[in-house]
Amino acid sequence: MLTTRSIPIKSEYEIKLMREAGRITSGIMQKLKAEIKPGVNAEYLNEFAEKEIARLKCTPAFKGYMGYTKSLCVSINNEVVHGVPSENKILKVGDIVSIDLGVEYKGFYGDMAVTVGVGKISKSAQHLIDVTKQALYEGIKKAISGNRLGDVSSAVQNYVEKNNYSVVRKFVGHGIGSKLHEEPEIPNFGIPNTGPELKNGMIFAIEPMVNEGSYEVEILNDGWTTVTRDGKMSSHFEHNVLIWGMKPQILTEQ
Ligand code: CO
Repeated sequence: MLTTRSIPIKSEYEIKLMREAGRITSGIMQKLKAEIKPGVNAEYLNEFAEKEIARLKCTPAFKGYMGYTKSLCVSINNEVVHGVPSENKILKVGDIVSIDLGVEYKGFYGDMAVTVGVGKISKSAQHLIDVTKQALYEGIKKAISGNRLGDVSSAVQNYVEKNNYSVVRKFVGHGIGSKLHEEPEIPNFGIPNTGPELKNGMIFAIEPMVNEGSYEVEILNDGWTTVTRDGKMSSHFEHNVLIWGMKPQILTEQ
């Protein structure tokens, strides 16, 4: 039998709730960013996120997901994604830290990541962050009705590679809605004018993971924390984006 995999199209009601979920996620993210300073440990950030999520009567999306025990991923320097918070991971001047937050609100999900510097960071670290963020926006620009998924993926990849960095292959973005992960998978590499057509009402979590060196990654013994194989730095940004005509709408922005 043929398996059909379809990309959900959200109703007006679903879009309204996704907007709220996105706004809440982004609001908590702004508060988390303000907590990032030298001396702070990753578990403190996790608990800070949990308190904010509870205060807003929401649920952490990551806690319990496939056995993940925390509500936040905190990935420092050579850690790419899924850094498991612990008290002995202490932020220091010059680090770059990516925080990835997932929130469920009334059955709908927000999922967002940013990378920020701790105190003064090197020019090269700042450049990696800037390129990763811009790569996300290059992808978002192509998230318009009538385009195809490969247009988004290739825009991210081209921008990153033009800047002599690499895009991680092992992890990808995803559709998002009443589940954290929905169809389609959204790679940060691809070929223009290929893949499914984008239509109004689709919502995508676009999330480039960009490595300073090679794109190869390894997963540590905790089963989650993903690091670069060459030990160089990595950066990550994620937004949830509604396809709406020629004007993509970022749901995870204040
Ligand atoms: Co995601």
